[in-house]
Amino acid sequence: MSELVAKNISKSFNDKKILDHLSFTVKDGEFVSILGPSGSGKSTLFHLIGGMLQPDDGTFLLDQEEITGKRGAISYTPQSPSLLPWRTILKNVVLGSEISGQVDYSKARNMLKKAGLEGYEHAYPYQLSGGMRQRVAFVRALLSPQDFICLDEPFSALDEFTRLEMQQWLLSIWEENKKSILFVTHNIEEALYLSDRILVLSKKPATIVEEYTLPFDRPRDQNLFLTDEFLKWKRMIYQVLQGSF
Ligand SMILES: Nc1ncnc2c1ncn2[C@@H]1O[C@H](COP(=O)(O)OP(=O)(O)OP(=O)(O)O)[C@@H](O)[C@H]1O
Ligand SMILES: [Mg+2]
Repeated sequence: MSELVAKNISKSFNDKKILDHLSFTVKDGEFVSILGPSGSGKSTLFHLIGGMLQPDDGTFLLDQEEITGKRGAISYTPQSPSLLPWRTILKNVVLGSEISGQVDYSKARNMLKKAGLEGYEHAYPYQLSGGMRQRVAFVRALLSPQDFICLDEPFSALDEFTRLEMQQWLLSIWEENKKSILFVTHNIEEALYLSDRILVLSKKPATIVEEYTLPFDRPRDQNLFLTDEFLKWKRMIYQVLQGSF
């Protein structure tokens, strides 16, 4: 069970307003994406949810309990994944579960395999490409004990085919585990393909300009990309985003 409520969140840096009274909810087991212009404050929002920053105004509730400014309540993968350079890949992905005292190495190996990282369990981060490191950070988030996951552009460094594969993989994992996911992306197709709902942010100071509930059935597969309904949504959201720059 994991429901996040953001109420009236505002944040400024040096008197410059970045987030302006944002309110939204991510329900238990829901997949919600945030689309918005570069610099609109998406990563800042994640830092606030994760407790790395304090909002100037507003509160975050996780399952009705206040978590504003608290760390460790949610699992979070930053935009530039920070792996511990002195730990092997396997030891990096179990970090979150280690803190809670429940390490499952066979599950970790299995997830790494599904992410195309078999054979790299005992390698160190410097031996991996940027895209591979991103996948490691992503596996780490999925293995963490928290039921609420924030992912900040986890697939942005991947080529088109790996990206499609990882999206499919994420959906299959999510459908098995039903964790709640808040996902940041610049890619409209990715947001449409993965999400139950999409929140569109304006440029800064960011407000939520639109919120869409998507009608596509699950489980989804890549044939969806070619349907008329998908293309219609893509065009519509493209126009809204253009207007919000
Ligand atoms: N710690 C900080 N101190 C001062 N300004 C900051 C800080 N962090 C972010 N900002 C500013 O806040 C604004 C929003 O940054 P943020 O990284 O949240 O944007 P974003 O929406 O994630 O962008 P992108 O899509 O490019 O990742 C930017 O103008 C940035 O310069
Ligand atoms: Mg960002």
